[in-house]
Amino acid sequence: MMKIRLRKYLKPYMRFVVLAPLMMVLEVAMDLTQPRLMAMVVNDGILGDAGLGFIVRTSLIMLGVAVIGMITGFACTVFAMFAAQNYGADLRSDLFKKVSSFSFAELDQFSTGSLVTRLTNDGTQLQNMVLLALRAFVRAPLLCVGAIVMVLSISRTYGLVIAVVMPVIALTAMFIYKKLAPLFTQIQERLDGLNAIVQENLSGVRVIKAFVRGEHEKSRFGVANEALKDTNLRAMFIMAAVLPLMMIVMNATVLAVIYIGGLQVQAAQMQVGDIMAALSYMTQVLFTFMIMSRIFVSIPRAKASGDRVREVLAAEVSITDGDAAVGSTGGDIVFNNVTFGYGGGEPVLKQISLHIKSGEHVGLLGSTGAGKSSLVHLISRFYDVCDGQVLVDGVDVRDYPLDALRAKIGFVLQESVLFSGTIGENIRWGNPNADDAQVLQAAKSAQADEYITAKEDGYDTLLGQRGLTLSGGQKQRASIARALLKDAEILILDDSTSALDLATESNLNAAINAEHAGKTRITIAQRISSVMNADRIYVLEHGEIAAFGTHEELLETCEIYQDIHRSQMGQGVAA
Ligand code: UTP
Ligand code: MG
Repeated sequence: MMKIRLRKYLKPYMRFVVLAPLMMVLEVAMDLTQPRLMAMVVNDGILGDAGLGFIVRTSLIMLGVAVIGMITGFACTVFAMFAAQNYGADLRSDLFKKVSSFSFAELDQFSTGSLVTRLTNDGTQLQNMVLLALRAFVRAPLLCVGAIVMVLSISRTYGLVIAVVMPVIALTAMFIYKKLAPLFTQIQERLDGLNAIVQENLSGVRVIKAFVRGEHEKSRFGVANEALKDTNLRAMFIMAAVLPLMMIVMNATVLAVIYIGGLQVQAAQMQVGDIMAALSYMTQVLFTFMIMSRIFVSIPRAKASGDRVREVLAAEVSITDGDAAVGSTGGDIVFNNVTFGYGGGEPVLKQISLHIKSGEHVGLLGSTGAGKSSLVHLISRFYDVCDGQVLVDGVDVRDYPLDALRAKIGFVLQESVLFSGTIGENIRWGNPNADDAQVLQAAKSAQADEYITAKEDGYDTLLGQRGLTLSGGQKQRASIARALLKDAEILILDDSTSALDLATESNLNAAINAEHAGKTRITIAQRISSVMNADRIYVLEHGEIAAFGTHEELLETCEIYQDIHRSQMGQGVAA
């Protein structure tokens, strides 16, 4: 897999990446100065004889230091947020671009739910990591080292306390990392699983209701939800257990600092103000431990997210542009010994050879799973052949720029998909430059005009709003209109009249015959009546061409065709 560095998304925001830690250094410096100043007020001002003026002056300096600390802290957060948010936005934008460039093969490989999670949740994890890196990563070690140095400058004896506390801190941090890291990875996976179930349920809600599988789905969701909760609870439990432990360490440290300080004050080696300062510094050291433990748990989390995001970015798009100049037109299609299997597996098309001449109308008939859709998908290069060659207008489809190839083809996919927006906009998808008259004409040919104008808002009817969607047959007709409007040289209709009644279908065929006469047309159908007027009909069986010829020829010679014909008697097929 190609190595992808996510760090490069920070490049354009380098000034923030530099400024944020810089501000943090200042903030930490202020935090470290404060106890020192307080010690001076206590030692010299209150206990000593420096006088009230000294106390007021030093207090004002302390106030100034606090204000600078606040401003630099604020600036650090703002810069870090700028870097993180921009990083996140750019990353998501690239992920989206990448996913849009995916061909069918890559889309088969990642589930929709997982792609959504990677784009949103994983992106946010990484964004949070940037924020953390620019603030906590800088603050924790700086403050820790700085505070230790300050404590030692007050009294070397405090080195003893540090020598005892540090290993305890290190061990606890390690324990947390060991225990929590795998838990957080698991949380991320369980979240993925939960998302997948929600996604499936939302898109399949009609089926679930139709089969009264609601209870089953609820329990499936319940199991995943419980699992997520349990893992979360285990993580929280460990974190909760750390807090009292931390308090014990903290109190023990306070005691030790006061005890050692007390001895030294008695020996006149130290003053009371110094004990107070030392207490502050030790507390700071212990707090950095809290921050560090947070960093420790977020690293594996971000790493898991990073891997998942990189997987998407590094996925190689299998179908890319060729560079042949688009020459002749006409819509001539040739299959040369084509063998194809999904993911390079078991072939679903075997040794297919056929030639559809420019302007011909060809029917494709065969039982479900025979490979009809797979065959036409190869023409638009949704997938690449495993062996052999598909030529359009004499050029291998792999040599075309994809846009140029697909511009030649008006495709009505087997599954009609419409987008949110008006019906008119959906049809205009086929050709954004078409004027209203052309849209109307396409809708009329597709036998869609009648039901569209019957709607209150006609072509401006919004889809997907207030529960308004179209019936199966209406959707099919809208997608046929979309393809007709494209007015391309090749028209492919994949089982797109299955939901139409026979009369509507024959009107549709008549309209296409009249208005798109010179075009190469491939009609896939289950019903003989849909293709019986084609110039040639191919009968597909188990990925192979079992027979081809005109309706009459096949009726005479092809046994499979005769069987289909017999079973469909009375469905518009003349006996
Ligand atoms: P097709 O989808 O080409 O069959 O699948 P078809 O002739 O159009 O069938 P209907 O009439 O629309 O139902 C051919 C074979 O390819 C496999 C299917 O399992 C089928 O056996 N297939 C299809 C895949 O493995 N992956 C896919 O994404 C699609
Ligand atoms: Mg199909």
